[in-house]
Amino acid sequence: MIFYFSATGNSKYVAERIAEATDDRLISLRDAIRSRSYRYDVGREERVGFVAPVYFCGLPSILQFFLEKLELRGYEDQYVYVVLTCGKVTGDAASQLGKQLKRRGILLSAQFGIPMVDNYVPAFRMPGREEADEVLDRAEEYIDEARRAIRAKGIGDYNRCQGAVPGILTAGHILYAHGRSTKPFVVTDQCISCGLCQEICPCGAIALSGGRPQWRKPQCVQCMGCLHRCPAEAIRWKRAGEDRGRYVNPRVDL
Ligand SMILES: Cc1cc2nc3c(=O)[nH]c(=O)nc-3n(C[C@H](O)[C@H](O)[C@H](O)COP(=O)(O)O)c2cc1C
Repeated sequence: MIFYFSATGNSKYVAERIAEATDDRLISLRDAIRSRSYRYDVGREERVGFVAPVYFCGLPSILQFFLEKLELRGYEDQYVYVVLTCGKVTGDAASQLGKQLKRRGILLSAQFGIPMVDNYVPAFRMPGREEADEVLDRAEEYIDEARRAIRAKGIGDYNRCQGAVPGILTAGHILYAHGRSTKPFVVTDQCISCGLCQEICPCGAIALSGGRPQWRKPQCVQCMGCLHRCPAEAIRWKRAGEDRGRYVNPRVDL
């Protein structure tokens, strides 16, 4: 089984490509949390995968939340792996996951990093279609390597995106843990009141009020899904002075 979280499609694309190679079932973290499904049976030979984006060189809060609750029935040292999608560097995010799993008596067997398009719009301009395709084409080599290793249940550190000082980079994750403010999100008059932002928000932070999205929680996952996927491009990040564009992985259905 493959547990995945994805806001703009990179991690979903990777999860689907791995599932094709291993014939595994896909489980969306957002759906699992919505239906409060935390208990899963693991077959004797089954692989257990986690595929998610890296946030501030650490794990998205939604994955940390899920891991706290996860119960793998029938777990007896099966093959467990993590695939982290990122813009460039994952830091030591996999160790964060490894430690969290260890507290639940689960051992992480392998880690992988896939460099894809960086969707962190507060810091970066989003690429156009051609530029995005170039980045995604380059990622295929990393995805193929992960598929081969996971199929063979290869054990070890396959992550080529950890950066020079992964531990120090991941120390910066504290900014995420204490940040994640919803205050910088703003809505322009382009809003068409479709409600998609409310529907896709993985932590229920958005509710429509008078036809407009309102952030009713002080913090969110900060996945940027609402901003990137708004069909009217009406959601913006206030502090990013200019409009830096949108990104959704064109190779997957969300
Ligand atoms: C809040 C936030 C923080 C991020 N931090 C990092 C980071 O530390 N390193 C990195 O390489 N990419 C970072 N990214 C980029 C994402 O990890 C990357 O675009 C990922 O593939 C998005 O996955 P998704 O399309 O499945 O949502 C960050 C993105 C967001 C939204």
